[in-house]
Amino acid sequence: MKLFVSKFAIVCLTVVTISLNVKAQTIPVETKDHALVLRVSNDKHLDMVYFGGRLADKNEYTTIAKTYRMDDKTDEYNSAYTPAGSRNLLEPAIAVTHADGNKSLDLEYVDHKVTKVNDDVSLLTINLKDPVYDFQVTLNYQTYFDENVTEQWSVIKHHEKKDVVLNKYASANLYLQAGSYWLRNYHGDWAKEMRPEEEQLMHGIKTLDSKLGSRADLFQPPVFMVSLNKPASEDEGEVLYGNVEWSGNYRIDLEVDPANNLRLIAGINNYAGDYTLKPGVEFTTPKVVYTLSNKGKGEASRNLQSWARKYKIVDGEGSRLTLLNNWESTYFDFNEQKLAGILKDTKTLAVDLFLLDDGWFGNKYPRNDDHAGLGDWEENKIKLPDGIAFLTKTAKEDGVKFGIWVEPEMVNPKSELYEKHPDWIVKQPQRPEYYMRNQLVLDLSNPKVQEYVFSIVDKLFTQNPELAYIKWDCNSLMYNSYSAYEKNQGNFYTDYVRGLYHVLDRLRAKYPKVPMMLCSGGGGRVDYGALQYFTEYWPSDNTEPIERIFIQWEYSYFYPALASSNHVTDWGKQPIKFRTDVAMMGKLGFDIVVGKLKPEELAFCQGAVKTYKQYSEAIWHGDQFRLQSPWDNDVASVMYVDQAKGSAIMFNYLVNNRYATGSHLPILLKGLDPDKKYTVSELNLFPGTKSPIAEATYSGKYLMTVGINPDVREWRTSVLLGVNEVK
Ligand code: DGJ
Repeated sequence: MKLFVSKFAIVCLTVVTISLNVKAQTIPVETKDHALVLRVSNDKHLDMVYFGGRLADKNEYTTIAKTYRMDDKTDEYNSAYTPAGSRNLLEPAIAVTHADGNKSLDLEYVDHKVTKVNDDVSLLTINLKDPVYDFQVTLNYQTYFDENVTEQWSVIKHHEKKDVVLNKYASANLYLQAGSYWLRNYHGDWAKEMRPEEEQLMHGIKTLDSKLGSRADLFQPPVFMVSLNKPASEDEGEVLYGNVEWSGNYRIDLEVDPANNLRLIAGINNYAGDYTLKPGVEFTTPKVVYTLSNKGKGEASRNLQSWARKYKIVDGEGSRLTLLNNWESTYFDFNEQKLAGILKDTKTLAVDLFLLDDGWFGNKYPRNDDHAGLGDWEENKIKLPDGIAFLTKTAKEDGVKFGIWVEPEMVNPKSELYEKHPDWIVKQPQRPEYYMRNQLVLDLSNPKVQEYVFSIVDKLFTQNPELAYIKWDCNSLMYNSYSAYEKNQGNFYTDYVRGLYHVLDRLRAKYPKVPMMLCSGGGGRVDYGALQYFTEYWPSDNTEPIERIFIQWEYSYFYPALASSNHVTDWGKQPIKFRTDVAMMGKLGFDIVVGKLKPEELAFCQGAVKTYKQYSEAIWHGDQFRLQSPWDNDVASVMYVDQAKGSAIMFNYLVNNRYATGSHLPILLKGLDPDKKYTVSELNLFPGTKSPIAEATYSGKYLMTVGINPDVREWRTSVLLGVNEVK
């Protein structure tokens, strides 16, 4: 295969279109440190020939393909978007049934264009088409140069005489070359989210996927982490991270091919999802986001975190509200008077907002437990005779904000909604209903249901303009999936998520910044498709703090701390200090009975809220460094450094309670300025206790070379250190 030198550089152009008749050429997709190189071969196929360090001389990308030793029986192993049914013999990225029933697809390069969105962001679009059928695919690579992040997606379209069925329609198809591949992926269930497993990928296909429909990543989140040549450590090794930005069924295939290279194909799961596409209509796949680092997992996670803050999550560069939630302190058992007391507690605790949880609605079928009322979003007249208006008014008088829980995608069979609109519900007409938490899912592929879900939340805001926060829950999986609305059932799973996003788009257009928590009966729905509409997510109902250290540690590889809603609850046996310290590594909230706290515990919590605010710049917008893993050490340690490297906070926890465990050695800090001087002092001391760590000043170099011992012991199981530049 001959290669031609690309005449055109990608990143420095505003819009450049390179059209047909151009023979073989190389198309580099560059970020600050990396390049993904695509190549149009002489026979017009688009291949991926490199993903690695960026070269100073772009012309050198043209010679890279020669370094591959590939005995390729198809000349397609490294296709940039592998079509099924022509000469490809491996896992396809796209498979279709044409209008005439033929199942073969071939895709040839037509032209490409680079649009420079701003100094940081560029979009490369590449048009491909089938030489036989009137069928086109546009590949999109949007790069975030400084963050070393790329988002990839495809747009599929045809002008055949009748509908075409898309049997597989991935977003991204990558090709990596290394000696070995190590996958870290996650499994889980309720209260057991983000349990990691790491394995070497051998020949054949490893598939990560979900078929759950709603809250789709309960068992397996849509993220991947692949180390090349050896398992990457925190600071060493080459590693690729990614996430399918989709809140429904997803699929990630990792195939080590006969040439020992890794093919990674990611996007919507085609399970029960043959999608009927009309002529002339564009099918846009969700985005897959990925980042490559050759400095280990730590850098890769900071790439994604800073990209997410800057470009993806709502108000990622803004602030977050501390709060008191009443779920675990009252469950469904509350009334106006009790809530008025909790509003006072919110003020006492000195947090910003009171969040009223489940149980405030339903009259014919009151929501007094999880068997009834879901879907009937009218205030319950017995619990709240004066409605939400009374609560927003009382909150205002108490000087705190007010937020509310909703689960608008769901319905209990014991509800007026179920009685009125059975055809709005996902269920098989001829089979018995099957429930998770006594509820069913509403059919969001139906525009009427979209309107209804939008109106629930919109009405809350219009009737209560003071409403300052929404917790959006989603507890049930989809069983017996069937839509009374859809003509083609294969479209349902995809259209459900699109319907959900349509509702969220409308809400965000009207209420662009109001904080909303993405909750899902725990952490069953965390992905960047959903997070583009939310300010934060709920990682797990498991708030036992030792568990949380592990859960939050793993989430933090992919998502920034300010998006992690961490509530102090009564789960577990750890003291309030430990529980609060752990919750501070993210977005701090409480879900406890404030009146039951001893005076010194209350004083501690009030002090912790102040400390939290003092260090929130580092926690919310700073860089995170995982210093010591809870998996391999008695003491877990994490720190956050603000962007100016002037203020940092270090969290240390005892995670092994065997005899005489603790921090026997100093822990090396990271991310500081070696030339600056810093004062180190202990924070969040429990009233009446003294710190054995004398406040002292060190150079950044010292702290990162010699380290500091937080003196974690059996009687000091959690230790927070503040690190502040001496000015
Ligand atoms: C599940 C959530 O994870 C909890 O925090 C709580 O909001 C309940 N749902 C309410 O039903």
